[in-house]
Amino acid sequence: MKIGIPAETRSGETRVAATPETVKKLVSAKHQVVVQAGAGILSSITDEAYSAAGAQIVDAATAFGAETVLKVRAPNADERSLMKVGTVVIGILNPFDADNIALMANHGLTAFALEAAPRTTRAQSMDVLSSQANIAGYKAVLMAANTYQRFMPMLMTAAGTVKAARMLIMGAGVAGLQAIATAKRLGAVIEASDVRPAVKEQIESLGAKFLDVPFITDEEKEIAQGVGGYARPMPADWMRRQAELVHERAKQADIIITTALIPGRKAPVLISEETVKAMKPGSVILDMAVDQGGNCPLSEAGKTVIKHGVHIIGEGNLAALVAADASALYSRNVLDFLKLIVNADGGLVINRDDDIVAATLLCSGGEVLRK
Ligand code: NAI
Repeated sequence: MKIGIPAETRSGETRVAATPETVKKLVSAKHQVVVQAGAGILSSITDEAYSAAGAQIVDAATAFGAETVLKVRAPNADERSLMKVGTVVIGILNPFDADNIALMANHGLTAFALEAAPRTTRAQSMDVLSSQANIAGYKAVLMAANTYQRFMPMLMTAAGTVKAARMLIMGAGVAGLQAIATAKRLGAVIEASDVRPAVKEQIESLGAKFLDVPFITDEEKEIAQGVGGYARPMPADWMRRQAELVHERAKQADIIITTALIPGRKAPVLISEETVKAMKPGSVILDMAVDQGGNCPLSEAGKTVIKHGVHIIGEGNLAALVAADASALYSRNVLDFLKLIVNADGGLVINRDDDIVAATLLCSGGEVLRK
């Protein structure tokens, strides 16, 4: 099969969907791999490295003209126009973007959104949300620490003692747990909150304190379990009680990192403007949910702003700031997914009875398949 690796064109996107390591494996499985010139450069991969792995370096039209196209982000109109009817495209395609799915279906593409894979053991090796959120959680702490005008660890020096930074992490999924682990290594004192009670133990095992908002009703308890590992929107009264506790803890915090997401919906507001006003001057908020509407209404996508004396970092694509490793892990996810839809002879076999294939397939044969 001919597999194309184009350069990503979306602003700020530095990742690439294959590395020399995965190209080598594809070539040894008898695929022909064509890589657009310069596709890997922002991930520190040269064209020569792809060539040495067995790829041919080509122009954009040839990369998009392949039978199967491996992408990071969903193709835009220009990119779609370079793809033939029946092309298979695999990437982080946003399964909730119905308009774009309709456009891909109209163009006759067979599109797979890897982030729609179920959170099961079998799907773990192709779980792009985990591989990328893990990197994002790490980078969030580094960015916040860089903006913060004080030390992270407690220091005892001849010139006096410096207190450890107090960090509050909202949402302890993959990104939040990595943020806790990273902040711990830097010496911060950490508190963390989540709706899912299952994460309490994980938070504590990483050395942070769990901010408990007890459930008052059975409904709250039931909703908080989430579904498929994901959170569901909590009832308003629980959110109010959480906001009160967060407001009190935010007054003490030096850095807040928010990671809370609810798939397919606007991110929950966890840090209100009132809470920002109550924070200490010079403190830092990093809103990882900024592209989904933000966990803080004052954050702005792609910018760092100072509001009420607080630095608010709105960076939605943190994984792209660790491009080389983000691409390395993402490419392995893509390679593992390909094994599901390619048979031993290198032909395409789309088995819709397979739960991972069924969950990720957005459209095929002109039909929108994502419900
Ligand atoms: P996510 O990125 O969708 O959300 C981030 C976090 O925000 C979640 O922990 C969520 O509970 C939390 N959150 C939502 N609303 C909140 C609120 N109002 N206040 C505080 N926190 C709130 O989640 P992510 O990181 O993609 O994964 C969630 C979980 O999925 C993991 O922790 C894990 O349990 C499960 N998972 C399972 C896998 C497997 O079995 N293969 C692989 C990866 C994740």
